[in-house]
Amino acid sequence: MKKILIIGATGQIGSELTMKLRGLYGNDNVVAGYITGAEPKGILAESGPSAICDVTDAPAIAEVVKTHQIDTIFNLAALLSVVAERKPMLAWKIGIDGLWNVLEVARENGCAVFTPSSIGSFGPETPRARTPQDTIQRPRTIYGVSKVTTELLSDYYFNKYGVDTRSVRFPGLISNVTPPGGGTTDYAVDIYYSAVRGEKFVCPIAEGTFMDMMYMPDALNGAIQLMEADASRLVHRNGFNIASMSFEPSQIYAAIKKYKPEFEMVYDVDPLKQAIASSWPDSLDDSCARMEWDWNPTYDLDSMTRDMLEKLAKRLA
Ligand code: SER
Repeated sequence: MKKILIIGATGQIGSELTMKLRGLYGNDNVVAGYITGAEPKGILAESGPSAICDVTDAPAIAEVVKTHQIDTIFNLAALLSVVAERKPMLAWKIGIDGLWNVLEVARENGCAVFTPSSIGSFGPETPRARTPQDTIQRPRTIYGVSKVTTELLSDYYFNKYGVDTRSVRFPGLISNVTPPGGGTTDYAVDIYYSAVRGEKFVCPIAEGTFMDMMYMPDALNGAIQLMEADASRLVHRNGFNIASMSFEPSQIYAAIKKYKPEFEMVYDVDPLKQAIASSWPDSLDDSCARMEWDWNPTYDLDSMTRDMLEKLAKRLA
């Protein structure tokens, strides 16, 4: 990776990945691609180049890639699971028509491509505990359908055209910088905001519902590490299971209560979010990622909780 384009640079992952990549590869070598209405602000805008780059506009992507001589694209444009259920056609347009655009531009210009998949690519028939790398993927959500398609289309472009596509299945991502919007796992971010603001948290996911989660620094390291991995070691390409922690609502509540004993949580289960969460695995087996490119996360629930509470308290002060 020498010249990098992030599509969706102002989103939940993009805003932090852009800054991390600028630190590693040089500010001028990382272009923040954004859409009108989601312009980069502050340090993201000031620290390096940016360009309008709508994933649904193939000529615009090609233009940015050529102008900046891009060799690697992080394609992060997507609707999360809950909002995608409300707008399935838009989810497909961004997730799959957009991906075609990115892959075609990559094929013509010799770029490597990272497009995230998700725990949402699994469904109710998938083995729930320590879900294997290669297993049943019959998701019930449009988000999941588009993520399985993302994995397959990315593999197809590698096998047919030799485009260097790679990706991971992200779990719920927790960060203190840019909040997610419209995901099933968002509760595990929102709960920290409530705790720091001294508010009671109303949990939309039922007690006992386990999902894999990950702290953003591990997720960013994983994406970069995979894109830098020695290709000759990769048996898989798209859709590596990665994992660092799995918990259910009462466990994250207890983890926060250890540092904020006065914190309160009640349940008011959201039927749509619960149906989605119940169709996803409890925990993933990430041994292929560990073996093929040395995936090795650093945060667990307790260390993440300490860091989240400390950083959010400063940010919200
Ligand atoms: N965080 C995503 C969602 O909840 C799952 O990958 O939609």
